[in-house]
Amino acid sequence: MPTRDDLSIRGTTVADGRAMWELARECGLDLNTSYAYLILAGDFSSSCRLALLGTEPVGYVLGYRPQDRPDHLFVWQVGVSARARGRGVAGRMLHDLLDTNPDVTALEATVEESNDASRALFTAVARSRGGELTWSEGLRAEDFPDDHPGEPRLEISGLHAR
Ligand SMILES: CC(C)(COP(=O)(O)OP(=O)(O)OC[C@H]1O[C@@H](n2cnc3c(N)ncnc32)[C@H](O)[C@@H]1OP(=O)(O)O)[C@@H](O)C(=O)NCCC(=O)NCCS
Repeated sequence: MPTRDDLSIRGTTVADGRAMWELARECGLDLNTSYAYLILAGDFSSSCRLALLGTEPVGYVLGYRPQDRPDHLFVWQVGVSARARGRGVAGRMLHDLLDTNPDVTALEATVEESNDASRALFTAVARSRGGELTWSEGLRAEDFPDDHPGEPRLEISGLHAR
C-alpha cells in the first residue's frame, strides 16, 4: 500500500496516455479511445496528473482549462487503482494540480448521484481549501445519446492555497 514516501505525482507526457487508458478501463470509468488519452496527456499536461507507486502508475487525473473560464480547472476523469484507494492518492493529485496552477480559482467536475467516493473526494478538497461547493443540473440523462445516467455538475469556488 502506498505511503506518503513511495508515492509520486507528476504532470503527464504523451507516453503516459497508455497508463491512463489502462487505469480508466480498470476503474470502470467511461473509456475514451486510447488516442484521446495520448493526445490529452501530451497537450493538457499541466492539467493532468499521474500518480506512481514506485514506477507503477496507480492513479490519474484527466483535466483541462475551459476556454471561456480559463481560471477554472475541469476534472474530466479521476481514477485510482483499487489497490491504492483510500490512501489519499486522488486527493493528493487534485491538491497538486491546484498547487501547481495557482491561478485556478475554481474546480469543476460532473459526478453521478451514486458515486459516493467521488463526491466525498470533492467535498474533502473543498473543505481543506476553504472553497464553496455548489451543484447544478449538469449533463441530463436525456442529453446523452446512449443509456448514460445524468451527471450533475459541481463547482468548488473561492479556492485558497493550503
Ligand atoms: C473516487 C476515487 C478516485 C477516490 O480515490 P482515492 O484515492 O481512494 O480517494 P482519497 O483517498 O484521496 O479520498 C478522498 C476523500 O474521499 C473519501 N473517500 C474515498 N473513498 C470513499 C468511499 N468509497 N466512500 C466514502 N468516502 C470515500 C476519503 O475518506 C477522503 O475524505 P477525507 O479526506 O474527508 O477522509 C476512487 O474511488 C476511484 O478511482 N473510483 C472509481 C473511479 C471513479 O468513480 N472516479 C470518479 C469519477 S470521474
